[in-house]
Amino acid sequence: MIRAAITSVGHFLPEERLTNADFEQMVDTTDEWIRSRTGIRERRILRDKDKATTYMAIKAAKEALKKRGMSGPDVDVIIVATVTPDMFFPANACQVQAALGATKAWGFDLSAACSGFVFGLSTAACLIESGRYRNVLLIGSDKMSSITDYTDRETCVLFGDAAGAVLLEPNADGNGIVDSVLRTKGEGWEALCMLGGGSLNPPTHQTVDRKMHYIHQDGRTVFRFAVNAFADIAAEVMQRNGLTSDDVRFFVPHQANQRIIDAAARRMGLASDRVMINISRYGNTTAATIPLCLYDWEHALRKDDNIVLAAFGGGYTWGATYVRWAYTGVAQPRATARAMEAVG
Ligand code: ACO
Repeated sequence: MIRAAITSVGHFLPEERLTNADFEQMVDTTDEWIRSRTGIRERRILRDKDKATTYMAIKAAKEALKKRGMSGPDVDVIIVATVTPDMFFPANACQVQAALGATKAWGFDLSAACSGFVFGLSTAACLIESGRYRNVLLIGSDKMSSITDYTDRETCVLFGDAAGAVLLEPNADGNGIVDSVLRTKGEGWEALCMLGGGSLNPPTHQTVDRKMHYIHQDGRTVFRFAVNAFADIAAEVMQRNGLTSDDVRFFVPHQANQRIIDAAARRMGLASDRVMINISRYGNTTAATIPLCLYDWEHALRKDDNIVLAAFGGGYTWGATYVRWAYTGVAQPRATARAMEAVG
């Protein structure tokens, strides 16, 4: 059976750090409040006015391809998960295609907020399992600072900018994307949204004055929803695949709030050393959080490891994916990996 396996991971993080101490100077907050309520200490910000989501996506994609010894012409499909596209159209994927020289690829953007990467994994897996495409690049990239109101203490402390990318290839040894449980519940859309700029509220002086081009979030409502839905769906994908907590090497959660992650890990019966958490350094980077975790822990992952990825976000959208990891240590160029396997 052919599965879609992640074979390389890339990332991009802007250099500039925005710390909790910086926020103490900007809004009525404290380092203690932010750390204890969210787990965040600092986040990265892409300050350059002429650089945005696509710039970060291209950097992350190039790194993923380079590690695998591949280049643009090898890519069949490009999926960019984002809620902060450079512009409404054309899709970010088009500029990524051009920058990579991916001359035989097609691509599109995927909008599912913080669940974008998990939804994208399932999409990529279907494309590869169909047998019609081999090399799919999935990128999660968000310049959240472009839609963040830095006078609103309830949201501005949460978000950061970053991109993460994975390459997926067909694999016949049983490893790869095994199963996904994905959900959407549109009734919850008003709790987390950006009201302005779209066809319902096209940009006017009034929409700008009313700050409708920023993230609007009812944090308490989202928290109450997420803390249950996130844990439930991670548990569901484990149960559906007969996985016990002993079988799961790592839980890879969307990084929105440390308390939500802890609740899900408890429900899954996992100790903290088996949970990938880097929220303290990057905050919530929306579609980039999960690939950033995979990048940070890539060296610790071993071939055949069972990992469970889970995310939730605006929409509501949420989902969990069971992956059997396909390689040990950092990604290798295809030829090197084949030679190593032949030696055993
Ligand atoms: N500094 C100090 N005080 C603050 C801050 C701040 N930065 N922000 C809010 N407060 C205050 C509130 O005004 C409130 O004061 P009040 O009691 O006088 O009204 C008090 O702190 C408590 O507020 P709560 O909202 O109850 O705080 P909570 O413990 O719920 O934490 C948080 C807030 C961190 C936003 C939490 O609700 C949360 O994480 N929600 C989920 C966010 C999320 O995961 N979003 C989804 C992903 S994003 C995406 O999809 C794009």
